Amino acid sequence: MSQPEACAFLADASARLRSPAAGWLSPLSFGVDLGTATIVITAVDAARRPVYWNFLPCEAVRDGVVVKFAEAAAAVRALARAAADALDLEIAEAATAYPPGVPEAEARACRYVLENAGVTCRRLVDEVSAAQALLRISDGAVVDVGGGSTGVGVVEHGELVSLSDAPGGGHHLDLILAGALGLSIEEAERRKREDGAAVSAILKPGFERIANSIGRQIGARTVRAVHLVGGAVRVPNAAQVISHYLGVSAFGYPHSELVTPFGIAVS
Ligand SMILES: Nc1ncnc2c1ncn2[C@@H]1O[C@H](COP(=O)(O)OP(=O)(O)OP(=O)(O)O)[C@@H](O)[C@H]1O
Ligand SMILES: [Mg+2]
Repeated sequence: MSQPEACAFLADASARLRSPAAGWLSPLSFGVDLGTATIVITAVDAARRPVYWNFLPCEAVRDGVVVKFAEAAAAVRALARAAADALDLEIAEAATAYPPGVPEAEARACRYVLENAGVTCRRLVDEVSAAQALLRISDGAVVDVGGGSTGVGVVEHGELVSLSDAPGGGHHLDLILAGALGLSIEEAERRKREDGAAVSAILKPGFERIANSIGRQIGARTVRAVHLVGGAVRVPNAAQVISHYLGVSAFGYPHSELVTPFGIAVS
């Protein structure tokens, strides 16, 4: 998919929050993203068009490790039921994902969360491969800056040649903001989302730290561009700070938090 096509997909997708697209082509494919901040369910149709998504705030999964199994399963069950009602069909199966680098035994817990919620896990994929399944970039780095961690995949000639993940993401930005302005973490999170432009200068060192992590994960490879996805890069100027630090062009997708969740559905 070209960058403009990906942006058009994401603009379409963002309008489908709890609001199914009309005239979708059967069968639908579902994805469940067990994130650190939220659990997201997505659906695409047979033509790979975005059809539906919904989310619940949930802190039952931390960096791919299921810390509160029953809560995670209850959230998935509630999301699957709401999706079934909205789309007027049963959700028999879905794909789900884990951050690259999570040991296999931990990743399997993601599968069990779905199955405990009555949804068969048709595929268990890492989050960066999921993002690439949607974006299909030919050369560059796919970088998912989530709430808890930053995942990096290097793509050469359309193939992922390296995959990794390191701690650091949106939650760390909240800590910086809370410290700088004397706010609670919750208030810092709200300010970051609602008044990002006003706090982006304070967050610059936080994005430089994220850029440093991206650079270390890319290692000795040369990348043409960095493709930024995940909710944390929605802060204004995030892509510019990362690009300047790395000396590589960086592109932050609009609705960047939807790339991995919809990528899971197309995986
Ligand atoms: N509009 C916004 N402006 C600034 N930050 C945002 C915005 N929307 C989301 N975020 C931040 O993005 C982060 C969550 O991103 P995302 O949904 O990609 O993470 P996740 O998948 O739950 O976490 P992870 O992938 O680390 O498990 C949070 O830190 C949140 O504060
Ligand atoms: Mg994520």
